[in-house]
Order: sequence, then structure tokens, then C-alpha cells
Amino acid sequence: MRVLVTGGAGFIGSHTCLALLEKGYEIIVIDSYINSHKRSLKRVVEIFTRNNIVKHIDIEVGDIRDEKVLDKLFLRYKDLGNPIKAVIHFAGRKSVKESVLNPLLYWDINVNGSITLLRVMDKYNCRTIVFSSSATIYGVSNCLPLKENAKIKPINPYGRTKVAIEQILSDTFHSHTNKWKIANLRYFNPIGAHSSGMIGESPIGIPNNIFPYITQVAAGVLDELKIFGKDWPTSDGTCIRDYIHVMDLAEGHIATLEYLNNFEKKIVNLNLGRGLGTSVLELVDTFEKVNNVKISTNFSNRRIGDCCTLIADNCLALSCLNWSPKRDLVKMCLDGWKWQLLNPDGYQ
Ligand code: UD1
Repeated sequence: MRVLVTGGAGFIGSHTCLALLEKGYEIIVIDSYINSHKRSLKRVVEIFTRNNIVKHIDIEVGDIRDEKVLDKLFLRYKDLGNPIKAVIHFAGRKSVKESVLNPLLYWDINVNGSITLLRVMDKYNCRTIVFSSSATIYGVSNCLPLKENAKIKPINPYGRTKVAIEQILSDTFHSHTNKWKIANLRYFNPIGAHSSGMIGESPIGIPNNIFPYITQVAAGVLDELKIFGKDWPTSDGTCIRDYIHVMDLAEGHIATLEYLNNFEKKIVNLNLGRGLGTSVLELVDTFEKVNNVKISTNFSNRRIGDCCTLIADNCLALSCLNWSPKRDLVKMCLDGWKWQLLNPDGYQ
């Protein structure tokens, strides 16, 4: 089956491309490379080549807001007699901070880009989409672990664009004119890297997220990790998150595609997390122990917009999908460190 992966060169996208190829899917990636690296997809192919397996990714460098580019792409594969049957939609901006400073950019890229994509998909009768949503849409929620029907209350423009896209997808599904199959995957905190150390997270500039920050402190690139707050109402005073290995998350996408294939039409929201909470101090401690490294830390004030605890109720995903997360926190720390050691400058 031919699948289009938008934003496939990014962190989660590249790991998902690998998982798709492993399962025998034919893939095309459209990526603007504005926030990703060309090398990631080359590496994905190289992982197979090293094992004497020939795999190929068709790559289109372009922006999903460009309807002509998308139209041409869908037409090309239709004419080849091998049309695009489904889309995994990652393309979009993802920095909370940047979204606060430049909301119009976020609404334009994330929301207009998605509308354009859906319009072209509809034109070419391609009506299966797995959308890269985020647990950020729940905002600062009190009920834990979070079920999919928890209150949706995003607290920043980035989160609001994700909610808007979910709503657009819902309206499209309920339009009755077409038979759509739609899954909104709400990611918790993906970390780690592929076990080969060939692909991983390569943030441009100083990382915002904790895990690449930790690996860079361990490597001596950054001086110390600032822990945002030590007075949160948790057992050790630091925030709790539901960290999930990026390969488990990637495999969740393939399981979702397989799930959607069982239906004539379907819309579903699924939390992809492990359902386990880890505090900042526990994460740092595990990383230090399993990798035998030292992470200098210092406490600083709480970060604006942070919430205390975010844990997925993943029961729905576990029951619907032929999937469960298999890699624990130790594996996430080992794989993430291997990636950092083998690629001190990321893909640069
Ligand atoms: C963040 C985004 C979220 C996005 C997700 C993608 C914010 C507020 N939220 O989630 O919208 O979907 O990334 O992965 O940016 N921490 C430190 N020191 C640091 C960095 C982080 O102590 O230098 C702490 C944070 O307070 C938090 C935890 O580490 O408790 C995880 O932070 P982070 O990796 O940024 O993820 P989230 O904030 O959960």
C-alpha cells in the first residue's frame, strides 16, 4: 500500500518511515525541510542497506500549503496506477514558545496546511488519515490519567491549532458526503532514538524539550540542565510526564493504519503513551545510571505553561490497536545516548 507521510523527515516522522518500510509499505514523503534534515531519510534507507535490504523512499521537497504541489503528487501516483491510499500527517510547527510569538505562522502552516491537504486527498478519493495530534490539547488537566474524553483546554496557540485540526477532521468526517477513516493520535512525551543510533532527535539550536537537553548536557555541549520547579505537588517536587520510546510511537502509527482498514468509515481519538509517570529527577537519575554519565542540574523557577503531571490513560489504544509500548525508560535512555554519542552534532 502506498502511503504519503507529510513531515516525514522530522523526529517522529523519520522513525515512522522506518517502521512503515519494515512493514512493507511504499512511502512518499513531502517535507519542506524548514525544521528537519535531509539526512534523516537517507539514514533510514541506510539502516536497511546495512542489512543488505533495498528500500526506497520517494521524496518531494515542498510545503503542504502549496495545493499545486500536492495535486501533482497525488496525480503522479494515480497515473502510475499506484495511487496514494492513506496519509500520515506530521507536517507542522511544534514549538510552544514560537507559537506564542508568531501565532499567525502556526495557524497558517498547521491549520491551512491541513485544510489544503484534506482538499487534495478528497479530490483523489484518498480518505484515510492518521493525524499527529498532541496531549498538549488537554491543557492543565486535573483528572489523571487522562482519557480521550477529558476536557480539551489548550493553553497556547500551538495546542489550539492541534484542536482546530481535530475539529476540521471531525466536521469532514460528519459531512456525510464521503467515507473518511480518521485517527487523531495524541502523543505524550516521545523520547529516545532508533536502536541503531542512525536516526534520532536533532533539534535546531538549543533544545526546548528535556530529553535532547539531557543528552547534550551529558555530552558536554550544554553546561547544566535547569529543572523547572522543585515545589510541584509530586513525591520529589518535580513535574511528571509520560515518556514513550519514539519507536513505540512510530509503531503505533502502523497499528492505527491497520486498525482503520477494518472499517468502512471511522473516526477515533487515541492517546499514545505508556500510562506511566516519571518525574524529571527520576528521568535524570535513570539516564545517569544506565549510561554511567553525570548530568549537572540546577533548580530554576517553574516554566510558564507547564503543568504538574501528564499521564495517558492508554486503555483505548491498547484495546483497539494491535499495539502496546514495549520499550521501557532504560531503553529510551540507552538509545537516546547512543544517538547522541554517534552524532554529536545531530544531522549537521
Ligand atoms: C512539550 C510541549 C508540548 C509538546 C511536547 C512535544 C511545552 C509547555 N509543552 O511538552 O506542547 O507537545 O513538548 O514533545 O513546551 N523540563 C525541565 N528542564 C528543561 C526542559 C524541560 O525541567 O530544560 C521539564 C518540564 O518542566 C517538564 C518536563 O521536563 O516537566 C518535560 O518537558 P518537555 O520535554 O519540554 O515536554 P512537555 O513540556 O511535557
